[in-house]
Amino acid sequence: MTLTETPLDAGTQADLESHFEATIARNDRIEPRDWMPDGYRRTLVRQIAQHAHSEIIGMQPEGNWISRAPSLRRKAILLAKVQDEAGHGLYLYSAAETLGVSRLELTEMLISGRQKYSSIFNYPTLSYADVGSIGWLVDGAAICNQVPLCRTSFGPYGRAMIRVCKEESFHQRQGYELLTTMMRGTDEQRAMVQESVDRFWWPALMMFGPPDADSPNTAQSMAWGIKRNTNDELRQKFVDMSVPQAEALGVTLPDPDLAWNDERAHYDFGQPDWDEFMQGVKGNGPCNAQRLAHRRRAHEDGAWVRAAATAFATKEATA
Ligand code: 3HC
Repeated sequence: MTLTETPLDAGTQADLESHFEATIARNDRIEPRDWMPDGYRRTLVRQIAQHAHSEIIGMQPEGNWISRAPSLRRKAILLAKVQDEAGHGLYLYSAAETLGVSRLELTEMLISGRQKYSSIFNYPTLSYADVGSIGWLVDGAAICNQVPLCRTSFGPYGRAMIRVCKEESFHQRQGYELLTTMMRGTDEQRAMVQESVDRFWWPALMMFGPPDADSPNTAQSMAWGIKRNTNDELRQKFVDMSVPQAEALGVTLPDPDLAWNDERAHYDFGQPDWDEFMQGVKGNGPCNAQRLAHRRRAHEDGAWVRAAATAFATKEATA
């Protein structure tokens, strides 16, 4: 991936830097045509690409249950959701492309392990209740993380988030409704829901990234207006939102340290297993190899489609 910058004379460079800083300070948008520091561009390519990869890889765990959904209605809902995730990936790859990288380059970096996707998708979906837990907890966490990103300083990213967030609300609601239905069912169904929540709660907290004290990127991303909240702020917001939902659902969140703190006006909660998180980030999670192998196979199987589309576009352009 080559991000080149034409050399500028000192005066122009200083003007451009101060214009960039003033735009960020005013909470205005930086657009693709604007000058931006190399580090700003690199951070955006890294984060938007990882976000896009997460959407595409995230189709696998839920897609696993499309053919086994218990009714036509549940199958239609799940199909719609998984299709939405593909669309989210495409919006985000399009936003990344405005920074001078192609989705082919980004896909090759994902497949070769040089770029990441969200750790949450390295966990298996072992029961149908997982479809509900992913909707309720994973998409719920995604909403907490993505709503502030609607105000991110880079224009194309923020605008992509507005549509993504509207669709995420449907994703979260369908998951919660699925679990509510199961909780009104048999003892076996209630036990299936509780077992699923036990497996997905802590990985959902990990989605927000490491604690702020261990985050090498957060301070600079906040200064550039890429992030509007820190990892810990959003994790806390997610916990505060989820506890009453869990109570209404009738499930127990697997954290003995969870308790309302009147003084803080937030829930106190335990810490995820950050060693487990780092293992996932390094590619040693339960499903990392399976997810990448599947993505690699899909990319290879689709090579003929890309070649045909490119040949057609070239023929049209030279006709
Ligand atoms: N999974 C994998 N890697 C993670 C991670 C996670 N959950 N959280 C952090 N990391 C990585 C970072 O990429 C970084 O590594 P790098 O510098 O080599 O890229 C390192 O851990 C340190 O983390 P930082 O907090 O310093 O990194 P960031 O400032 O990038 O913050 C983030 C991490 C909060 C995930 C931020 O990148 C972000 O907000 N990204 C956009 C949202 C996103 O990607 N969400 C993923 C889920 S998409 C989804 O849920 C789809 C929904 O439809 C289900």
